[in-house]
Amino acid sequence: MAPTLLPDADLFKNNLDTLVVGRELQVFDAVNSTNDLAKDYLRKDQGTEGLVIIADSQTAGRGRLGRSWFSLPGLGVYLSIIFKPPGPPERFPLLTLMACVATLEAINEISPLKGTLKWPNDIYLGGKKLCGLLGEFHPPNEGSGGVIVGIGINANQNASHFPEELAPIATSLFIENKVSVDRTTLILSVLTHLDHEYEGFLLGNDAALLKKWTENTDMFGKEITLNRGSEQFQGTALRLDPLGRLVMRSHEGQELVFESGEITHIRH
Ligand code: BTN
Repeated sequence: MAPTLLPDADLFKNNLDTLVVGRELQVFDAVNSTNDLAKDYLRKDQGTEGLVIIADSQTAGRGRLGRSWFSLPGLGVYLSIIFKPPGPPERFPLLTLMACVATLEAINEISPLKGTLKWPNDIYLGGKKLCGLLGEFHPPNEGSGGVIVGIGINANQNASHFPEELAPIATSLFIENKVSVDRTTLILSVLTHLDHEYEGFLLGNDAALLKKWTENTDMFGKEITLNRGSEQFQGTALRLDPLGRLVMRSHEGQELVFESGEITHIRH
């Protein structure tokens, strides 16, 4: 797919009918990282609830665990949203799960092949990673507090756009469906679903969120390997607990609960 341009912020705003998400919206040709820009705004007390930052490309896109996020211009979706949820910070990880569900809903709307969720923050299509989310909590002691959720979706890349090390594990909507994606339509849909799911989050509909998450993963009941720092755990993935943590049964029959970690292997 040849690169395309993104429209300006007014086009997005004029086509959004949301309560919170996108109340303020900015579009950039290139930034270092949309999450970093959102963090700068919060530091300067300029980051409002629902602010969306969209970039056509990132020069220092970041992933989880200190990894980088490959962000060529004209092909992918790179955006961040600032949320300022009330309530206890223990619930904040649910925001990232909420954003995963919303993003998956938007992807499934336009993709004939359906995506699946992988804990904590990934969306897979055809067995490869299509999308990653990065949730970051900014404490209120520096500027104003908030939760930043960054979303990266591989939309129109073909296999040759990915660096060699990513080619075996990454995919795009174009690669899987052989049809190019209108990034503007996809972004508008992501923001609309996010707004809807955030309403549920604010109302405390956590059980409904966890149910949707669970219905869209194929990892439960499977043997998994999970890395947390330098430790490695193996067992059966059982469920998410009410705070969105992963519950696993070890080979010794013990139930282990993980707040963070990376699943490196799922035996299908
Ligand atoms: C991951 O899979 O490790 C998370 C990837 C998150 C990438 C997105 S792209 C938009 C936002 N800005 C960033 O620097 N990262 C997130």
